[in-house]
Amino acid sequence: MQKSNTYILLIAVLLYACSGSRTVIGPTKVNPYQYTIQKKITGTHGAVVSAHPLASEVGLAILKQGGNAVDAAIATQLALAVVYPAAGNIGGGGFFVAHLADGKNITLDYREKAPGKAHRDMYLDKNGNAITSLSLYGHLAAGVPGTVAGLFAAAPHGKLPFKKLVQPAIDLAEKGYAITADEAADLNRAQAAFIKYNTVTPAFVKATPWKAGDTLVQKDLANTLKRIRDKGQAGFYEGETARLIVEEMQRGNGIISYDDLKSYTAKERQPSIFDYKGYTIVTMPLPSSGGILLPQMMNMIANKPLKSYGFQTAQSVQLMTEVERRAYADRAKFLGDVDFFKVPVKTLTSDAYAKERMKDYDPSKAGSSTAVQAGIIPESEETTHLSVYDNSGNAVAVTTTLNGGYGSKTVVGGAGFLLNNEMDDFSVKPGVPNMYGAVGGDANAIVPGKRMLSSMTPTIVLKSGKPYLVVGTPGGTTITTSVFQTLVNILEFDMNADDAVNKPKFHHQWLPDSLLVEKDFPLSVREQLQQMGYKIKERSAIGRTEVIRILPDGSFEAVGDKRGDDHAAGY
Ligand code: GLY
Repeated sequence: MQKSNTYILLIAVLLYACSGSRTVIGPTKVNPYQYTIQKKITGTHGAVVSAHPLASEVGLAILKQGGNAVDAAIATQLALAVVYPAAGNIGGGGFFVAHLADGKNITLDYREKAPGKAHRDMYLDKNGNAITSLSLYGHLAAGVPGTVAGLFAAAPHGKLPFKKLVQPAIDLAEKGYAITADEAADLNRAQAAFIKYNTVTPAFVKATPWKAGDTLVQKDLANTLKRIRDKGQAGFYEGETARLIVEEMQRGNGIISYDDLKSYTAKERQPSIFDYKGYTIVTMPLPSSGGILLPQMMNMIANKPLKSYGFQTAQSVQLMTEVERRAYADRAKFLGDVDFFKVPVKTLTSDAYAKERMKDYDPSKAGSSTAVQAGIIPESEETTHLSVYDNSGNAVAVTTTLNGGYGSKTVVGGAGFLLNNEMDDFSVKPGVPNMYGAVGGDANAIVPGKRMLSSMTPTIVLKSGKPYLVVGTPGGTTITTSVFQTLVNILEFDMNADDAVNKPKFHHQWLPDSLLVEKDFPLSVREQLQQMGYKIKERSAIGRTEVIRILPDGSFEAVGDKRGDDHAAGY
C-alpha cells in the first residue's frame, strides 16, 4: 500500500495517552502512546531509519545500549512486526544485507518457500484459468515464513543477547501503542478482509472505526514473541507456535505442515557485488531479482552521459526508462530461485550483455515492449525496509515483507501474527500477471520448497571499502527501479540523501508497456515524453525509501521517506 502523506518535518502525530502505564523503550525514553515523526537526522554515532517511529527508536535504543548495527536491525524488525502490522512481520520473509566492520559482506535469504504440498497448477481452475484470489488472500496464499529463521541467522553477527533485542517488541505488543492516522486508515480499509479471511477474530478487528491515537494491544503476538525469546527459533517453527499455525491451516484449508516449518532454514548467499565508477555496490542476489536487475541497469547507463542530460529531463528519464524496460523483460523470462532453476547470472550482469541489450536503443523515441523481448541467452506492494549504521563501520540494509498490505489478511489464531501472501510472487501461470502486473514463466513456477522471485533490493554502497550509502525500499516491482533511481540521484546527480529520497520517482517494468510517474513528476517532462511516444500513467506514491549517507568526516545524514510514517533516528 503506498501512501501520499505530506512531508512534515518533526510534526507531532496526533496521539493520545490512552493507557495509564508509560512504557519506556530503552534510554531514548520514547513514549509509545505519544511520539513524533522525524524525517531527517544527522549525527556521528549511529542511525536507524525505518517505516515507523517506534521501531526506529527501538533500534536507536539498542545502539545506545552498546549493540551494533546488526543488533539494532534485529530489534527494529521485531518492533516493526508489532507496530507496523501491514508489512512488518514474523509471518513473512526478507533479505538482510550487511557490510561488517571487519570488511565482510553478508547476505541472508529468509524468503518464504512454497509448502511441500504446493504444486505448479495449484491456483488454476479445471479449465486452466488462474484464480488469483487464492494466491492473494487467505490460508492458501501463504508461503512458509522465513523471518524468524533470518533473525537468528543474523544474530551471531550482533553483540547483544537475543532476549534483549526482542523485549521491546514484546512490551509494545503486550502493553500496546498508539496507532498513527495512516495505520488507522489502513486497518479500517482492511476490516472486511480481516473478518472474511480469519477463523479467530484478530486484534485488528474493532466494532467502531480505528482512529489516530487508539491503542493497539496484541496479547497473542506478545506470547508468540515470548516463546521465541525463551526457545529461540524453535519457539516459532516447533512446539506451541507450530501447532497454532498448523491448526490454523486445517481450519482454513491451508497446506503448511509441521514438516514445512521444522525444515525451514535461512540461507547465506553469495552477495551480488559490482563496481560502478569506483563505488562498490553490495546487494542481495537471487531469489531477489534486484541482485541481477540493479547491476544490469547500472551497467546499461554506465557509458552514457547521464549526468550531462540533467536530473529528470526528458532525455535522462527516457534513457532510464529504456534501461528499466530491458531489465524487466529479462526478469520475466530468466529469473527464479537458483536452487531450482538455472539462471544465467554471469551473462545477465556482464558489461558485454549490457552493451548488447542497448544496441537497439533509440534516444529519440519510446521503445516498445513488443519489440524489446528478453535478451537471447543460450540457455503489493507492502513490504518494508530498514537501514542501520553504526560508527564502528557496520552497515545493515534489511527489506522484509508480507507481500500485500497485511499479507494474506489471515492471522494465526492464538498466535497473533499475520501470514504472508507471498505465493502470489510466483508465476501462477505463464503470462498471467501477479498483483504488481509482473509476468513470469518456468523460471518462477511453483515447486515445493522453492522460493518465489522477489524484487526486494537492500543495498549498501561502499566508497574505498567503507560504507557510503545504506539504501532500500518497499514497493513490489518498483523496488528495484526506486533503488536504481536513488543511486543514480546520488552517484550521478550529486544529490543529498533528502532529495534523492523525496524527489518524484518513475517506473517502467516492460509489461504493461506504460511509464508510471508520481503525482509531483514534472508536467513539462511528461509532455515531452508523450511526444516521444510514451504512454504515461500517474500512480500513487512509489516506494518508501530509507537512506543513510555517510560523509567523509564520519558524520551521516539519515532520511526517512516523506511518503509514509517513516522515521530517522540517530545521534
Ligand atoms: N513481495 C514483494 C517482493 O518480494 O518483491
